[in-house]
Amino acid sequence: MPERVRARGPGRVNLIGEHTDYNAGLALPFAIDRGVTVTAERLTGERVQAHALDAGEEDDFALAAPERAGGWRAFVRGTVAELTAAGYVLQPCRLTIEGDLEQGLGLSSSAALETALSLALLAVSGEDEPADRRDLARLCSRVENDWVGAETGLLDQLASLCSEPGHAVRIDFESLEIEPVPLALGDWTLVTQSSGATHSIAYSGYNDRRRECREACAQLGIASLREAAEADLEGLPPTLRRRARHVLTENARVDAMVAALRAGDLEQAGRLLDASHASLRDDYEASVPEVERTVGELKEAGAAGARMVGGGFGGAVVALLRPGAAVPAGALVVVPGSPAALV
Ligand code: GLA
Repeated sequence: MPERVRARGPGRVNLIGEHTDYNAGLALPFAIDRGVTVTAERLTGERVQAHALDAGEEDDFALAAPERAGGWRAFVRGTVAELTAAGYVLQPCRLTIEGDLEQGLGLSSSAALETALSLALLAVSGEDEPADRRDLARLCSRVENDWVGAETGLLDQLASLCSEPGHAVRIDFESLEIEPVPLALGDWTLVTQSSGATHSIAYSGYNDRRRECREACAQLGIASLREAAEADLEGLPPTLRRRARHVLTENARVDAMVAALRAGDLEQAGRLLDASHASLRDDYEASVPEVERTVGELKEAGAAGARMVGGGFGGAVVALLRPGAAVPAGALVVVPGSPAALV
């Protein structure tokens, strides 16, 4: 059994397909080269120690029975508890957490932390990771839902665990099929830019949208919006109709984006980003003034398209810059990187 291991979990950018994961829809994310690194060192005894280097904070809890805690500690304790509940025999260890991915940007620092923690804990305990990474994604998602208390879908965990360098992945959340799609940008550049509005305050907005989608399904008598066609939405009250329309049109935009990327038509890719943003703003009402301003600035800077990324209500904007356009100050160039792994 190793004395010391390191695992890295990447954040992600979702190129297109927003608020579709919890509607059994489609999305097209990719892992980025920013993320979280967890070093795990074996200890004697029966406890787990954790050190969040950037926050300068410590935790210490019983390996056999982690108790509830808030903030970053919920991720550590929840990952230990969920891995144990899944039958893995974990060993006492000291975890050191560090990262280069800011929180609250909508680039999924949470999934980066969950995936790095689970790979490090398994490896330092001499346990193999699950044969199917989708099972690990579900486990990480339980940490987020049941320990952190965020009712998120599977998008972020699947992107962090199942991406491929140089590719985006088309995820079908109904079948959980994952198809790599080459993200060949040539002289074009994908950037993200923070809107300045962090989105942690916005979880009520996110949860409201999930509730509205459930309500639309209940009224339509279907299990998920994947089963609906646009014509079916006419009987819904106006707000629910617009929410559902976003989901249906966004699914179609994911496949249109796959086709545009395969054809090398990046102007069309830009138009699809704009259309996604308009739908999120007008039908899904998930935008805020800071995000609108950031989208406008990126378009002025030469973006063929720009859209909010992640849960919305703040966070970051992703933009596709045409060749020759200068990267705006403060923007982060994002390239499709490697999935979570031991390093
Ligand atoms: C957040 C959630 C994801 C997904 C997106 C919206 O990032 O964590 O599960 O729902 O919002 O697409």
